[in-house]
Amino acid sequence: TDSERLLAIETSCDETAAAVVQGGSNVLSNVVASQIDSHKRFGGVVPEIASRHHTETITMIMEEALNEAGLTFSDLDGIAVTEGPGLVGALLVGVNAAKAAAFAHGLPLLPVHHIAGHIQAARLERKWQYPALALVVSGGHTDLVLLREEGDYEVIGRTRDDAAGEAYDKVARTLGLPYPGGPHVDQLASTGRADIPLPIAWLEEGSFDFSFSGLKSAVLNTVHNAEQRGETLSTADVAASFQASVIEVLVEKTRRAAEEYEVKQVVLAGGVAANQGLRAAMEDAFKEAGPALTIPPFRYCTDNAAMIGAAAHIQWKKGITACWDLNGVPGLAL
Ligand code: KG4
Ligand code: ZN
Repeated sequence: TDSERLLAIETSCDETAAAVVQGGSNVLSNVVASQIDSHKRFGGVVPEIASRHHTETITMIMEEALNEAGLTFSDLDGIAVTEGPGLVGALLVGVNAAKAAAFAHGLPLLPVHHIAGHIQAARLERKWQYPALALVVSGGHTDLVLLREEGDYEVIGRTRDDAAGEAYDKVARTLGLPYPGGPHVDQLASTGRADIPLPIAWLEEGSFDFSFSGLKSAVLNTVHNAEQRGETLSTADVAASFQASVIEVLVEKTRRAAEEYEVKQVVLAGGVAANQGLRAAMEDAFKEAGPALTIPPFRYCTDNAAMIGAAAHIQWKKGITACWDLNGVPGLAL
């Protein structure tokens, strides 16, 4: 039926999250415990610290998700969990918590790919038509994913080096902004002028791949050269120029892929989908007749478990479950 209730768990990086989702789109609860404060002073996620925090909080977060939904384990139809990709020690905490709960309560276990989760977050908003195209931009990923039909994922483009969010975080560090830097660069960019020449990596003709390391280095060189010459650069202008370069290649490749595969639906997903400039540029690119554009609300763009519940629904319908030997897979393919 379409009213199954799944408890979903997500621990692939630095968010300990649990949610109860009914029928793939009705979010009964969505609890996210961020560890950002613990990682901030190191300027990035420290895997060992992430695993320990997950271990300390996972049981509590699961209980909270059930409480908020007004349910107990006996009301559930299954337990969904992020199998990968992600940090191995972090994934293992969620996978083992899910296995233990599923085993103890005699519930099926549903393994979910983290990127499928980011994409299916858009189903929490509205139903879509196929073929669909998703641009997934986060701290760890920059993928263009084609869905010819429901639950069928084909990666047609990916980053060859840094992920978009990673580039944002590194540029933020260069500009002296705190971690995670994406939102700060976004904010700063809105007050600056995009008039500093920076490269855009279009790569080979027809390629839907991305590359951001050259751009990141160019920003670094621009800032250092100005420092050496004793000039003062406007950090707002640097942020605006960097952001314009990232957005242009992301939006243009998405537009071309949407055209080539004649998709009916475009989805913007992942933490960087919170970016104001990117959202506006995507809305502009797809405002004419053509594919519908769905951008999940902010709380479903950054890592959360409701998106894992949404993706698990498709597996539930297909009867795809895991055995008790399920493991966390850091490099899991989509
Ligand atoms: O999806 P997410 O929460 O975690 C991963 O799976 O990676 O994405 C986090 C990333 C970080 O790199 C963060 O800087 C970036 O998303 N981010 C942004 C914005 N908000 C978050 N990047 C640019 N502009 C934003 N407004
Ligand atoms: Zn993510």
